[in-house]
Amino acid sequence: MSLSSALSIADLRRLAQRRLPRMVFDYLDGGAEDEVSLRANRAAFEALRLQPRLLRDASVRDPRVNLFGREWAMPVAVAPVGLAGVFWPQGDLHTARAAGRAGVPFILSTASSVSLEDVARGAPDTELWFQLYVISRRIADALVERALAAGYRTLVLTIDVPVSGYRERDLRNGFAQPFRVTPRTVLDVARHPGWLWRMARHGSPQLANLATVDAADAESQAALLKRQMDASFDWHALARLRERWPHRLLVKGVLHPDDARDAFALGVDGLVLSNHGGRQLDGALGALDLLPRVAALAGGRPVLVDGGVRRGVDVLRALALGASGVLLGRAVQYGLAAGGEAGAGRALALLREELDRAMALCALRQISEIGPDLLAP
Ligand code: FNR
Repeated sequence: MSLSSALSIADLRRLAQRRLPRMVFDYLDGGAEDEVSLRANRAAFEALRLQPRLLRDASVRDPRVNLFGREWAMPVAVAPVGLAGVFWPQGDLHTARAAGRAGVPFILSTASSVSLEDVARGAPDTELWFQLYVISRRIADALVERALAAGYRTLVLTIDVPVSGYRERDLRNGFAQPFRVTPRTVLDVARHPGWLWRMARHGSPQLANLATVDAADAESQAALLKRQMDASFDWHALARLRERWPHRLLVKGVLHPDDARDAFALGVDGLVLSNHGGRQLDGALGALDLLPRVAALAGGRPVLVDGGVRRGVDVLRALALGASGVLLGRAVQYGLAAGGEAGAGRALALLREELDRAMALCALRQISEIGPDLLAP
């Protein structure tokens, strides 16, 4: 199978599985503990049945939306994903460019493999957002300043990683940065010479946003790799961040309607309901389960959701439940792993085609026509 013959995100996933060493694929594909929340994310989408009203002229369809003062080509943005350089050298840059070509925002992770400055320089036509992990207040302040100086105007604070989720696939596979040389990992990598060749040829620094010679930053590199965040970050700290950051601020990882209400009360501009793709608290509810309650209290402020979006019709489902848009995590990364920028672009193009087809099948001309009546009771 080649990129162009991949018919779905599931096909791109199969390609990624073939091209990546097992430990790298599992890092991408896996979740925390028993992966209950990971499976629940997909199950929640699949359980939502659509009941379209037909016999309406939908010969011309337009999937564009206006969100956060911008036009998006479709109600989709690319989610922040750390260590993307292990899927493809300089993966963040490739995905950012693919997002720009698809006309959707790209959210760069704090744990990116290309620095935030290099992504801003390398993808000037992409709407770029920066995702902030608070490893320490000092590092967070410095990252915020840098993001501002580099031209980022939307900050996404991720709140669901006070400590790392327990990802047993990674532990079992010995997935670590830098790669741990054991007979098992050597064998795994040796079975994927294409990947090894690409890595050896382009090998990019991991965690480029923290790649300095400063000893304190070396410590934070280690903390970030172990996903050890500042677990004391609280509402007061968020209020301070709100004061410091003069532009748009979103909070990602909200899982409770009361947190959603409090975040809006603090002046946060939008939310991402998310269980981190089932990689953090296993047993956590999925964003879709929470969405109707949060949409009801949002008062028109944007609410994005992620976790398990794999088809265009999933976008319809999320919007019918009250979301303003969705983030794509693994869907785009499977494409990246399958073929760099072209692969990430293929993932976004497939989603766009599927969304258009789903709109036609539901006789919808505009995204604004999507409402709760699309869902079977
Ligand atoms: C993530 N996610 C994530 N989120 C974040 O805020 N910062 C990060 O650095 C990362 N890193 C990361 C790595 C990998 C490999 C994955 C799969 C996910 C979570 C991500 O932004 C998003 O919430 C989920 O991926 C959404 O679920 P789906 O679309 O992957 O099912």
